[in-house]
Amino acid sequence: MKKILLLFVGLCSITLAKTQGQTPLNIIPEPVSVERVGGQFQLPASLTIAADWENPAIRNTVMLFSKKLETAAGISESKVDLRQNAALRFQINDIVDLQIGEEGYLLEVSPETGVTISANQPAGLFYGVQTLLQLLPPAIESSALVPQVDWVIPAVKIRDYPRFGWRGMMFDVVRHFFSKEDVKQYIDQMVKYKLNLLHLHLTDDEGWRIEIKSLPRLTTVGAWRVNKTGTFGNFSKPGPNEPKDYGGFYTQEDIRELVQYAQDRFVNILPEVDVPGHSLAAIAAYPELSCTPGADKYQVRSGEKIMEWPPSGHFYGLLDNTLCPANEKVYDFLDKVFTEVAQLFPFEYIHMGGDETARNFWEKMPEIKALMKKENLKNLDEVQSYFVKRVEKIVESKGKKLIGWDEILQGGLAPNAAVMSWRGLKGGIEAAQQNHEVVMSPTTYVYFDYMQGDKIIEPPVYASLRLKKVYEFDPLPPGVSKKYIKGGQANLWTEQVYNMRHAEYMTWPRAFALSEDVWSQPEKKNWTRFVQKTEAQFPRLDFSKTKYATSMYDPVFAFSGNAKGEIIVTLSTEVEGLSIHYSFDNSFPDQYYPVYDKPVIVPKDASLMKVVTYRGDQQVGRIISFPVAEMKKRAGMQ
Ligand code: ACM
Repeated sequence: MKKILLLFVGLCSITLAKTQGQTPLNIIPEPVSVERVGGQFQLPASLTIAADWENPAIRNTVMLFSKKLETAAGISESKVDLRQNAALRFQINDIVDLQIGEEGYLLEVSPETGVTISANQPAGLFYGVQTLLQLLPPAIESSALVPQVDWVIPAVKIRDYPRFGWRGMMFDVVRHFFSKEDVKQYIDQMVKYKLNLLHLHLTDDEGWRIEIKSLPRLTTVGAWRVNKTGTFGNFSKPGPNEPKDYGGFYTQEDIRELVQYAQDRFVNILPEVDVPGHSLAAIAAYPELSCTPGADKYQVRSGEKIMEWPPSGHFYGLLDNTLCPANEKVYDFLDKVFTEVAQLFPFEYIHMGGDETARNFWEKMPEIKALMKKENLKNLDEVQSYFVKRVEKIVESKGKKLIGWDEILQGGLAPNAAVMSWRGLKGGIEAAQQNHEVVMSPTTYVYFDYMQGDKIIEPPVYASLRLKKVYEFDPLPPGVSKKYIKGGQANLWTEQVYNMRHAEYMTWPRAFALSEDVWSQPEKKNWTRFVQKTEAQFPRLDFSKTKYATSMYDPVFAFSGNAKGEIIVTLSTEVEGLSIHYSFDNSFPDQYYPVYDKPVIVPKDASLMKVVTYRGDQQVGRIISFPVAEMKKRAGMQ
């Protein structure tokens, strides 16, 4: 026993000696395996890089890296071929390493010989570079030279590969328009965390954002609307003569440029044309696509109310924003649209939307009744399914595969369609059980339009989704075959996102969590470590001038009432080791104010509670002012 104890103590001291003085590595997403080998590699002022310079994908990857070194560190590079000695080597494996697949890599940093990244494919080299960048000081993310940085890389051996091939972000460029340069910036940010799929939501009630040459009115009319600002969804109805000067679209040249930009960074772009619902912009441009009389008066939506969402869940349109499934012109229209879309985007899938189709106008349409009779369709689910199946045929005739939101399950799935499950995991599970491919994208875990904290401080949206919840996302539900789960994706809808700064705020740090959800092995995930790594990433976002939310430091509030009619406030934090301080006297609390250590009773005459979080002497949360009147409401006392 004594011997065992001694051995244990001995082993502990070896481990301690190994880790002592080593700052932890803070790589996101967590790699499959990381071994610290001791010491570090000092980057010289001029670097030799060996790679297969003839291979454009490899050359691009290396050049993207060396440009960052040049910009932030002033380090220049000289190119040599792989037979020569070099401080940095990018090599493709002679013998395929089956375990790491197409995107995996091996990264070795030695104090003596420098850096080697090896992979089966250029994509693996690219991901090795993303990890290497995270081993360099945060200043590497600067777009200007940063003096007095010690450009060292800790010596490591990292072996890494992704859990899922589909690691996506959906960016809604309709509700608010984001320029080609914004989209490029978004891609730049995504790839640092090994996300590889950008789903562009290109059409909706509020705009049509892609040039279709055979249907010019889609963009001359459909891309423009009356400009409104405030809380989207409650705007006044635009008058017929108000100027329609908000909007924009991507020309086909822009799309080609974006596709190339994405490809150079190993990102696929998935285009979405959302039909048959969410189609007001298309109808404003071509009213004949509707079967509803008066559709010629419809305008692109500016954010006024066009749908009702009663608690029953049976939503309905106040106007008919759907393409008419009984109208042959609609299928001719879609054939033209998908012909051009398929030519522009090399990705194998096209997304047809298919979500939230309000069918209250369909119920009464004689054209729909005739279609049901002719096609023997028993109900509106089957009408919708008839539409989806016809769209699938069109998409497949262009050499592409169809994917749609999980409503495409209603009335029977089209034969080969893939499902993007957004109303929870249920639709995805159902589709996988029917042997269809699935991308998990549920509101419960990955809706990045939801607030990151409490609405008392966040820009208001109807729901919250905190960082910790995103970190709990597993795209592979128990009992489902991995074969059908292509991966996961988060969705950034932009009704309340007016500009790029706010798009970034809504994305980060939640996309860090997403990246571990879809890249890392589940047993490698660890919330406490993830929070530390997230904090270590923040200076990188500062250097790259990327906005992010600090909501994870703000407390979670809960309220209840007691028998005396008093309000009880219960506070907690999702980040460990913080102290919460508060006041009821309207003054700003700091670290010397009372510490929250148990539920607090609100003093009878208080009207406001102010709360802030600290780590030691450092304020980390924002000062939050919580009106007592709002507490009463939440406690159900009003
Ligand atoms: C969706 O959020 N309507 C797909």
